[in-house]
Amino acid sequence: MAENTEPARTTRTTARARAGQVGGTATADRPTLPAPTSRGGQRTQTAPTPQEARQDGAPHRKVAVVTGAGSGIGRAVAHALIAAHWTVVLAGRRAQALAETSRLAGPLDSGGPAVLTVPTDVTRPDEVDALFATVRERFGRVDLLFNNAGTFGRAAALEDLAYDDWRAVVDVNLTGSFLCAQAAFRAMKSQEPQGGRIINNGSVSAHTPRPHSVAYTATKHAMTGLTKSLSLDGRPYNIACGQIDIGNAATEMTGRMQTGILQANGQLAAEPVMDAADVARTVVHMAELPLNANVQFATVMATNMPYIGRG
Ligand SMILES: NC(=O)c1ccc[n+]([C@@H]2O[C@H](COP(=O)([O-])OP(=O)(O)OC[C@H]3O[C@@H](n4cnc5c(N)ncnc54)[C@H](OP(=O)(O)O)[C@@H]3O)[C@@H](O)[C@H]2O)c1
Repeated sequence: MAENTEPARTTRTTARARAGQVGGTATADRPTLPAPTSRGGQRTQTAPTPQEARQDGAPHRKVAVVTGAGSGIGRAVAHALIAAHWTVVLAGRRAQALAETSRLAGPLDSGGPAVLTVPTDVTRPDEVDALFATVRERFGRVDLLFNNAGTFGRAAALEDLAYDDWRAVVDVNLTGSFLCAQAAFRAMKSQEPQGGRIINNGSVSAHTPRPHSVAYTATKHAMTGLTKSLSLDGRPYNIACGQIDIGNAATEMTGRMQTGILQANGQLAAEPVMDAADVARTVVHMAELPLNANVQFATVMATNMPYIGRG
């Protein structure tokens, strides 16, 4: 899993203040919201609001927020949603990584879906609030949150894990996921037409631990509770919530799986991995169901990884 390579911020800037349409240029720390322009020089306003779409007969273009969109699974899911004609808002701490995700998606069709980068630290309530305020200001609604930002943290024997290391994982994986889900929920409850979908990124660690992963495993188990609570509390408002539990998609996080990672028997072993694009296809399938249907839990894993049975 990627470590944050940015220096600690000394000046707090909100996501709303730092939002920027992609163009390969870092957009961090802008004092005011920049005028939205796309890579092709189009205005993002070419993406109609749902109300505009209904008036001119154009199809409703759905709006997704993807956290942790600057790498790995978040990037793959963002690309798959863009390819499926969603308007996608890319969130994560590193503005340049988000811009690279947008650049790698290729050129946008004229009048097609928009892509917006909004540098956001999901552990900061003000930045999460600003992210969703920006999305609603630009696009009028939120149809999907892919709640993906996460960190594995430091691998350590349970008795050696420092409080700060525990806290860092809880802050991103659990509190950050809660903050994003709550902000999306509020938007989905209040928008017209009401409703939307939240897809939480759990893990096979939401079911079974690896050695020396207490913070990651505990937060991913907690993600299952978040998913179930959102599903129940969302019923009155047409808000669906599902969870994808991934095992060994090839990302920065799984570099160690490919070279050798500690097993339950104390040995190091390399493990099979799979393509993150195969996870992304599953997320798009979950996202595109009508809101009265929901994949509650899906497990997508490298077929031969040592997880099922006794390894
Ligand atoms: N790869 C797998 O096999 C696998 C298996 C099970 C579960 N997962 C889950 O999949 C998700 C993505 O992991 P990955 O494998 O794609 O690893 P990754 O490439 O390291 O992605 C993690 C992403 O989270 C973002 N992030 C971390 N802290 C953040 C914060 N405070 N605020 C906003 N964004 C933050 C990072 O972006 P910035 O550094 O720019 O903020 C990064 O883009 C995680 O939740 C992970 O637990 C992955």
